[in-house]
Amino acid sequence: MIDKEEVVSRQDIARRVKELGQAIARDYAGRRLVMIGILNGAFIFLADLVREIDLPLEIDFIRVSSYGSSTCSSGAIQCTKDTELDLAGKDILLVEDIVDTGRTLARLKELFAARNAESVRICALIDKKERREVEVAVDYAGFDVAEGFLVGYGLDHAEQHRQYPAIYKIVSPV
Ligand code: IMP
Ligand code: MG
Repeated sequence: MIDKEEVVSRQDIARRVKELGQAIARDYAGRRLVMIGILNGAFIFLADLVREIDLPLEIDFIRVSSYGSSTCSSGAIQCTKDTELDLAGKDILLVEDIVDTGRTLARLKELFAARNAESVRICALIDKKERREVEVAVDYAGFDVAEGFLVGYGLDHAEQHRQYPAIYKIVSPV
């Protein structure tokens, strides 16, 4: 077990995800929307979010890694799983669990911009600004959380705790 403190409840997540879905549906009406989930952290958020978007859309995934073999053509980022849909001319919405330093999303934005997408925007469940190193525009942000290491609702600590239905701050990891 870990000592943890709830920072966002299950009810607050559901309410906010619904609002984000409605905003995305308004903004992308008549466009060719592709939602790209960044694995593994975004899997629960993406699954809930797409069910709140009343529009035609496509879903794909990418998995990035700071080490290991690369399947991406860009030198800026290493992917262990790349997207598979044809993205040319489409409106990409990158779906991430949490923006911390901003490095991952800044690089992914560059990668997809180079793939002839019509547009590339970012939706993140949590915008954690305390350690931001690279400026990156988060177009849709679920919650601003000032500090702390968060787990639950997809977020992990050493691959554990992703399954919690709410978001917690770790007080003392074991
Ligand atoms: P960055 O913005 O490039 O620093 O990377 C963000 C990534 O770091 C996220 O996709 C998470 O996988 C991980 N991360 C950053 N902060 C946390 C946290 O508080 N809990 C869990 N994962 C985190
Ligand atoms: Mg992640």
